[in-house]
Amino acid sequence: MPVSDVDLIDAWKQVLTLSRLEAGDIVTVLTSANTHPQTLATATIAAAGFGAVVNRLDVQPVNGEKSLSRDSLGYVGTTPLTGNRAALAALKASDLVLDLMTLLFSPEQGEILQSGTKILLAVEPPEVLARLVPTESDRVRVTAAAADLEKAKEMRIQSAAGTDLRCPVGQYPVIKEYGFVDEPGRWDHWPSGFLFTWPNEGMANGRVVLDTGDILLPMKSYVTAPISLTISNGFVRSIEGGLDAELLKDYIESFRDPEAYAISHIGWGLQPRARWSTLGLYDREATIGMDGRAFEGNFPFSLGPNTEVGGTRLTACHIDIPMRKCTVALDGKEVVLQGKLVDHLHLV
Ligand SMILES: [Fe+2]
Repeated sequence: MPVSDVDLIDAWKQVLTLSRLEAGDIVTVLTSANTHPQTLATATIAAAGFGAVVNRLDVQPVNGEKSLSRDSLGYVGTTPLTGNRAALAALKASDLVLDLMTLLFSPEQGEILQSGTKILLAVEPPEVLARLVPTESDRVRVTAAAADLEKAKEMRIQSAAGTDLRCPVGQYPVIKEYGFVDEPGRWDHWPSGFLFTWPNEGMANGRVVLDTGDILLPMKSYVTAPISLTISNGFVRSIEGGLDAELLKDYIESFRDPEAYAISHIGWGLQPRARWSTLGLYDREATIGMDGRAFEGNFPFSLGPNTEVGGTRLTACHIDIPMRKCTVALDGKEVVLQGKLVDHLHLV
């Protein structure tokens, strides 16, 4: 269902208010070939309405000839900003960058944030943005969960399907994604509503069994039969199962990069307005699957880079796998029980 310009402008106003945009701030809207015209137009109008100075920086897409998919997260690492010092200077000189392109997982993003510039990524289709406008309560919920994760020494994930993964944590920071940027140097993604960290380097061990209904991204498909992954010392060592497993293996192998098998971010979903079922309603070209990453109680297993938190793993392959019905425990204390938030269970 399309969303009206006025509703999307209102959504931007809410996000920009939460992001503390002020008159005179310099906002640069970063665009490329994949930018949605309605998102661009409404972002520009809303930011200008705050009295901000609004620029648009349009850059050429890259990696299209290398990627197996059209998904903006299908090939990460190098971006249109790689080697583009003029664009980098403009973004570093801005107070807020609205990333309507997908700059994620690039060293350039880190450099821009270090300068104090805020970056807000927004590439889901307009109606998804309008349905999942972030709120202050999203921030409160994610921040409270992050306080628990920051204290933890181990995250253990188990499921009836056979998952039993132990991940010592604490080496890398906890990242809160609540959908707006309220502090200098902060990056976030609208829509969101989850948190994550990385296992300590080389320390994740166990087995992950992806079960029917778990989501593969960027494939944007639901698993139809179990896929069993053996994990030792931080890397996936084997991928077994039927067709889904073979497709996953072939995709990862195409990168010819041993680092593509590294365990990447792990955490849990906290967004009650995001739905597990949404992906099945969309054309694959139309979404990057944020409902799947954010829905309440999912365990997002992932493979690939760790450059977002200062690591050196700059692999172009990144796979997110939101899993259902997992139990996630921090130092033996459950925060998600069989896919349901434990805090929520206490309230019922
Ligand atoms: Fe990811």
